[in-house]
Amino acid sequence: MERQPFFYDITLRDGNQSLKKPWNTFEKEIIFNNLIELGVQGIEVGFAAASDMDFEACLRLASIAPDNTVISALARTVKNDILKAFESIKNAKKKRIHTFIAMSPFNMRYVLNKSPEEVKKTAIEAVSYAKSLVGNDGEVQFSVEHFGDCCENIDFVIDSLKEIVKAGASVINLPNTVERTCPSRFVNLVEKVYNALPKDIIISVHNHNDLGMATATTVESYFKGAVQLECALNGLGERAGNTNMYEVAVALHNLGVDVPLNLSKIYELALVISDMSDVKIYEKAPLIGPEALSHRSGIHQDGAVKTKDMEKGAYRPIHPSLIGRKDDEKLGFTSQSGKTAIFEIITEAGYPITLSEAQRIVPFAKEEAEKIGELTTRNIIDIYYNNVLNVKGAFRLCNLEKLEDEKIKLRFMYKDKEYNIEVSGNGPVDACIKAVQKAGFDCEFLNYEQKALNMGSDASAMTIMQFKAPNGQTVISRGCDESTVKANIKAIFNGLNIIENMK
Ligand code: KIV
Ligand code: ZN
Repeated sequence: MERQPFFYDITLRDGNQSLKKPWNTFEKEIIFNNLIELGVQGIEVGFAAASDMDFEACLRLASIAPDNTVISALARTVKNDILKAFESIKNAKKKRIHTFIAMSPFNMRYVLNKSPEEVKKTAIEAVSYAKSLVGNDGEVQFSVEHFGDCCENIDFVIDSLKEIVKAGASVINLPNTVERTCPSRFVNLVEKVYNALPKDIIISVHNHNDLGMATATTVESYFKGAVQLECALNGLGERAGNTNMYEVAVALHNLGVDVPLNLSKIYELALVISDMSDVKIYEKAPLIGPEALSHRSGIHQDGAVKTKDMEKGAYRPIHPSLIGRKDDEKLGFTSQSGKTAIFEIITEAGYPITLSEAQRIVPFAKEEAEKIGELTTRNIIDIYYNNVLNVKGAFRLCNLEKLEDEKIKLRFMYKDKEYNIEVSGNGPVDACIKAVQKAGFDCEFLNYEQKALNMGSDASAMTIMQFKAPNGQTVISRGCDESTVKANIKAIFNGLNIIENMK
């Protein structure tokens, strides 16, 4: 059963009716044009009888609608509403009147105060009136309001729908007007209706998100026969909203369904809608939330970095570019994070670091993060400076003097004791190491390299040295200075302190 889903947008109707300041025609037109670019196949442009402003908006949008987009307006099962709906969308090439009435036992009894037979009769009359208006050129959609609450009278609903179809409805919409239980119960009802009605009737679902499962309910309904999926941009809609269009589209895409939408428009559109609706995007909102691409646990950060450019990510449902999101997965450093975040953040900031150095400074970063929470890049750079480029410890360089004949005089402190050592060596690095050794300290270096760089205001040379620590571990140390000799000496003293601090 592979059919292309029909995305029917309800942002301009259900979404609009829930706003603190419903949109005017001008605002609706901006959103409408975005919906067309997104590629939805049907748009419910408004509730024409709700206000003159909404009627005018429906009229305008119907007049600018592309020929291949279904344009519909909502109406209660009352003649005046239906006529207004028709008047408002009659200029659209593909016009549709959408009428609805509740059929749940609870609503028929306590809200409508009507018997089931009265409700059925009202629905049939409304549909046949709507059909007489749109004729063969247009469609009638009928919604069983509160369909999700129709478990106990589903046979009545199905019998009524058979007659409603005969009266002229070609789209039967099954709303979970209030989400009270779980997707599987709703989906079972959808399947019953799908099996009972003629196969040329389009089954639609319209799910509210009161318990946060509207996306699941909509996606599962698609696999039980619902072709038309009623969704709203940013999940706008009454109370906790309607099914979120982006989530449904991406879930079906990930399931291999042919989704006829321009998915790369999603992220930008979400920002526009948030702005225009004045409904903020929740930090953790799936796909579009500011935090939806952040990783803070060390394990997740490691997986995210290892799968960064791959279509499938270790800890993300899609590659962000699928929805046009340019900001990449963000790594934030907290007490839960690890070396990958330090490495990425420092590298991103333009400083040299190896993974083993990142690992070494993690405890300092964690200690700080335990106190203040997530560290900023500035905090992390400070930690880097204090623990990589300017390591505090028992050794302190006081002065280095070049004497004649490759000789140097090194003055340094170890704890409170001052050392003044004169040695000759094969260049300043060799001489300095010899001086430290002569003072009685272990100092075995394995490797040396110097690079020109333009990192901070005062640094133009960086020395990278590898020392062998007494426990056999290799320790990398760096020294940075505008003088190449000083960069070397700083690297040696940083190395001495790193090893000393390991004790
Ligand atoms: O939630 C609902 O039942 C509705 C109908 C009008 C379709 O919005
Ligand atoms: Zn609704």
